[in-house]
Parts: sequence; structure tokens; C-alpha cells
Amino acid sequence: MILVAGGSGRLGTLIVRRLVARGLGVRVLTRDRTRTAHIAGSRVEIVEGDVRDASSLRAAVAGVETVVSAIHGFGDTGKVSPASVDRDGNYHLIDAAAGAKAAVVLISIVGASAEHPIELFRMKYAAEEYLRASGAAWTIVRATAFAEFWIDLLDKTAGASGRPVIFGRGANPINFVSVSDVAALAEHTIVDASMRGVTLEIGGPENLSFNELAACLQRVSGRTVPPRHVPRVVLRLLAAALGRIQPNRARQVRAAIAMDSIDLTLAPTDLHRRFPALPVTSLADILEDRRIPATSLPTGSGGF
Ligand SMILES: NC(=O)c1ccc[n+]([C@@H]2O[C@H](COP(=O)([O-])OP(=O)(O)OC[C@H]3O[C@@H](n4cnc5c(N)ncnc54)[C@H](OP(=O)(O)O)[C@@H]3O)[C@@H](O)[C@H]2O)c1
Repeated sequence: MILVAGGSGRLGTLIVRRLVARGLGVRVLTRDRTRTAHIAGSRVEIVEGDVRDASSLRAAVAGVETVVSAIHGFGDTGKVSPASVDRDGNYHLIDAAAGAKAAVVLISIVGASAEHPIELFRMKYAAEEYLRASGAAWTIVRATAFAEFWIDLLDKTAGASGRPVIFGRGANPINFVSVSDVAALAEHTIVDASMRGVTLEIGGPENLSFNELAACLQRVSGRTVPPRHVPRVVLRLLAAALGRIQPNRARQVRAAIAMDSIDLTLAPTDLHRRFPALPVTSLADILEDRRIPATSLPTGSGGF
């Protein structure tokens, strides 16, 4: 039995489908089972729990060999945060897995570090460090930004005007990876026990700025109007104004400012030489085929 925390989300859904297609038993941890209607089936058990509440995880890990963490508290509304979900929630999940003698596959972020300007990246790093020291068998899969999420967001913000909204100048190159490629790597690390004790980084074939991403989207959507930009100065004022009133939104705005300026590129790695069967989905594939139509997957609640 494999427990997928975050199995209701964009990446988690694809992981669950892959594991089920292999004939494996899967249990999904969710705060609200109505969010799992799209994956419910005879091979998928649903268990309600919240990683912020350690006691709610005991039943979830019973009889489980592997725990997958595909959760984040970056974008959701309510009282979640990277500190309560990505750090403390993962601590609880790792403790529960260690207690059940289960291995842990942690989905993290390329660039996660103790000093990163984006809080989420710092909290992911804390979870990575905790996992490595936990005594549980572990694997860490670090991914760059999910292309499908950002394409959907640009598309959604285009609205009736047809002009996608870009936060800041939009000229900073960023590595985007297809969530389906990340799911393929995650599946491999879940089912192959020789993948324990390793940290893998996966990115996509392109480093692109938001201006370039939006231009590609406009082209395939048959739109000729340019995107709209929210200037950095407006973002700074917005972050300050939202402050404590809407901390989640303020956090997202601060992250948008960072994404407009810090290095989020990824140089080519040897990942695909090591795993030749791993798919490499290009932006063109994603845009033209819309292989993962926005309608068939949860839209996700945050950029990372
Ligand atoms: N999106 C990106 O660009 C990106 C890039 C790199 C890495 N990642 C990582 O990839 C993973 C999946 O991201 P995603 O974008 O696919 O996520 P998503 O679609 O936004 O889904 C988030 C998931 O987290 C779960 N969750 C949140 N708070 C929880 C809590 N307190 N207790 C239990 N579950 C909780 C949600 O479950 P319920 O709502 O059902 O409870 C949901 O399944 C995350 O670890 C993320 O940090 C994402």
C-alpha cells in the first residue's frame, strides 16, 4: 500500500493514476474527500486527515510501505502556510512514516535552501533535512515550476480581454517542467527501492521568461493582444497592504516579485541519461496538445 499525501492535487493525481495503472494499492490523504472524486476507484482508498494534525496521520500510515508527500501550503486559502504544511506538516508525515517503517518520497523544489528568498523554498529545505536525518528510507524529488500551472494561470488571467497578466517585468528566465514528467520520475522512485537515499532534480527542456511563455500561449490561442504587466512597485505596495490581513496572498505577491528577479533557471542535468525512459515534454507539446487539459486535473492552489 502506498500513501499519497496530496493525491488530490495536480501532481498527486497523476502519481495516483500511474500507481493504479501498475496494479498497486493506493491510499490518498486529503483534508476533504470531496476533492478526490476524480481519482476515487476500487484501487484507491481515501483517508481524511491533515498533516498539521499529527494524530490524524496514524490511521493513514497503517500498513503502508511508502509515503509520498506531494503537499504544499503555499497557495491555499485558510490557515495553511509553508511553515505549517511544507515544514511542520512534512515533519509529522515523516515521523508517522518512520513509526510505520515506511519509506518516504518527498516532492520538493529545485533551489530549496536555508537562505532562499522565497519562504516556501526554505520550508521545503527544512523538510528535506528532517527527512534525511529521520531514520526512514528516503528519496527527494526536486522539481522546477510546473508549466501547466503557469500556463493555466496566464490563460485564466487573460479573461475577456485576452491579455494574460504578468507580475513584474516578466523578463526573468525560469525553468518550467511538465507535471507529467515529474509524475513519471516520482513513480519510478516510488516503485524502485534502489532509489532510496538519493536526491534527484528534474526540470524541463526550456528556460523561458513569463513574457516568452505568454507569447507562446497567445500564439496557440490565436490571440494577438499583448499581455498586461503589474509593475514591481505596485506588487511591493500590494504585498505591504495585504500584510497580515491576507498573509497567503501577501506571500504569493512577494514570491511573484522574487520570481521576477532571482535565478530560477536550471542547467541541463544528467537525469535523462540516467533514466532514458523518462519523458521530456516540451512546452510546444503542452501548449498544442494540451495533453493535460485543465478540465481533467485539479487546478492546484499555488505556483509551487
Ligand atoms: N506547482 C509547481 O510549480 C511546483 C513546482 C515544484 C514542486 N512542486 C511541489 O509538487 C507538489 C505538488 O504540487 P501541486 O502544484 O501539484 O499541488 P496542488 O495541486 O496545489 O495540490 C496541493 C495538495 O496539497 C494537499 N494539502 C495542502 N494542505 C494540506 C494539509 N494541511 N494536509 C493534507 N494535505 C494538504 C492538498 O490536499 P487536499 O486539498 O485534498 O487536502 C492537495 O492535494 C508539492 O509538494 C509542491 O510543493 C510544485
